[in-house]
Amino acid sequence: MKRFFTVLSEEDLEDWRRTHYSSQIKPDLNDDNVLVMGWVSSIRDHGNITFIMITDKDGEIQVTAKLDECGKILFDKIREVKEHSSIGVKGKVRMMQNAPNGAEVIPEEMKIFSIAKKVPPFQVYSRTVPNIDIRLDLRAIDLRRKVLRAVFNIRHNTLNAIREFLNKEGFIEVNTPKIIATATEGGAALFPIFYYDREAFLVQSPQLYKEQLTMAFEHVFEIGPIFRAEPSRTMRHLSEAISIDVEEIFVDYNDVINLLERMVVYIIEYVIKNKSEELEVLQNKIDKPSLPFPRYSYNELIELLKKEDERIEWGDDFSTDNLKKLGSIIQGYYFITDWPSISKPFYTKPKISDEKLCESFDLMYGELEISSGSSRINRKDKLLERMKKQGLNTEAFDYHLRVFDYGVPPHAGFGLGLERFLMTFTGVENIRDTTLYPRDKDRLAP
Ligand code: 4AD
Ligand code: MG
Repeated sequence: MKRFFTVLSEEDLEDWRRTHYSSQIKPDLNDDNVLVMGWVSSIRDHGNITFIMITDKDGEIQVTAKLDECGKILFDKIREVKEHSSIGVKGKVRMMQNAPNGAEVIPEEMKIFSIAKKVPPFQVYSRTVPNIDIRLDLRAIDLRRKVLRAVFNIRHNTLNAIREFLNKEGFIEVNTPKIIATATEGGAALFPIFYYDREAFLVQSPQLYKEQLTMAFEHVFEIGPIFRAEPSRTMRHLSEAISIDVEEIFVDYNDVINLLERMVVYIIEYVIKNKSEELEVLQNKIDKPSLPFPRYSYNELIELLKKEDERIEWGDDFSTDNLKKLGSIIQGYYFITDWPSISKPFYTKPKISDEKLCESFDLMYGELEISSGSSRINRKDKLLERMKKQGLNTEAFDYHLRVFDYGVPPHAGFGLGLERFLMTFTGVENIRDTTLYPRDKDRLAP
């Protein structure tokens, strides 16, 4: 048969509207008229029959064009479509065992909305791509990959679960300023910015604001960005991350440890229930962790590490090597409690029985820290004393300290890193793939 090459042109949407997503094209629609839209993921041309796969947000649709069914004009047009172009197809559903969801679409009309002019520099429909930077440079296309859509669907579901859980527990969601005047987290470096005629910073943590807001709302949470000028590029650090911050009054660190572990289990159950397909795509089997999570004190773990000939002195933070060792001994979620007072920020409350230690904890998953929390100091003189000990300019914190003249009750809370938490149950190994547009030392775009 002689083949004529038609020159394709781009068409407008006009009154075309999608009637079904790929997930809805099933045998029960047999013979129904549908209008589907998406991107061409593959074309197979067998002479008198051509298969086009259309990908949309839910999956794939097989469009099967036969010369004797759809006529020569449409047939030639279909054969000419380029992969990755965005198109719409009007047609009839037909049962077809071998097609996705057991049905295909027999085309009657097709519109090409946008012709792909380039082939992406990586396989858009493959599971793995060796070089992450090539993918990140064209992130919007990369995110169409099935594995990543599964990750971000789970991320969305996780956020729903967090809001649902904290709502039920009587928390109110707040939003605090992201442009701030002073540091809160000590070591973690700040990003300075211009603020009119002054220097200001991007927030490292909503710490002081969430503490203040308990004065009005008692139980607050925030889901928002935190910014950290991390000096090195690692698999678990971002310059911009999302923190789930929780703070409440008339409780101590043990109460928020209990709250946090219940929240983790709630979320995992929620995701297992609602996102089983996505978990399957990720080939990541997760089991509901059992409560309570193990608790180890800092002192216990120092002993353990020393026995293992690890290099660490009392008072040190755990090094990457120390954490690797801990992760090889302790799997899953566990808490490290009662850290040395010197290793935690100024607002952390020292233990009454031993001021060298503080009422603090980290939630770990193997070698990965996913949350830090503590009881907070609620007395102004104590707070001032600790700030001075840590060499902080107390005048810069006047806006915060003045609140402590008005009856700040005992309170406690934690910050949970959303991206790191997602790594623990999606199996994603590079934190960059749990965030849409990762920021690190070397990357500021897209
Ligand atoms: O441990 P961090 O620094 O603790 C705080 O910010 C406290 N204000 C929390 C509190 O309520 N006491 O940060 C909390 C969590 C970390 O455990 C980690 O999961 C995440 O935020 N995080 C990061 N995630 C990715 N990249 C980074 N650079 C991160 N820095 C912190
Ligand atoms: Mg921490």
